[in-house]
Amino acid sequence: MPIVSIKDTEKVFEVNEGEILYDSLYDRGYSLPHGCLSGSCGACRIEVITGKENLLPAGIIEQNTIDALRDEFSQQYGENFIKDKEIRLSCRAKVSGPVTIKSIK
Ligand code: FES
Repeated sequence: MPIVSIKDTEKVFEVNEGEILYDSLYDRGYSLPHGCLSGSCGACRIEVITGKENLLPAGIIEQNTIDALRDEFSQQYGENFIKDKEIRLSCRAKVSGPVTIKSIK
């Protein structure tokens, strides 16, 4: 079963393969920041620190929101802030293997 680790915490969760990241953690008592839970608002954005290959590819709704977030971050903090960051939405991303994540505030 995939392991989800939360960077800079002691939190480690064993989740089911194919589960939505947000849901899998919520069901285990850990709530990530969130809003719409449907992929549109971007409030559940996370940075994938390790294991980006272990999240299933983003669908069109998630990708559109990620693209908008990247534009927003780039304008707000500069291109270097997001250049090497793997941004995903926890309410859409499905886990297939071990990952380490952190919320982006
Ligand atoms: S909670 Fe709104 S995009 Fe995930």
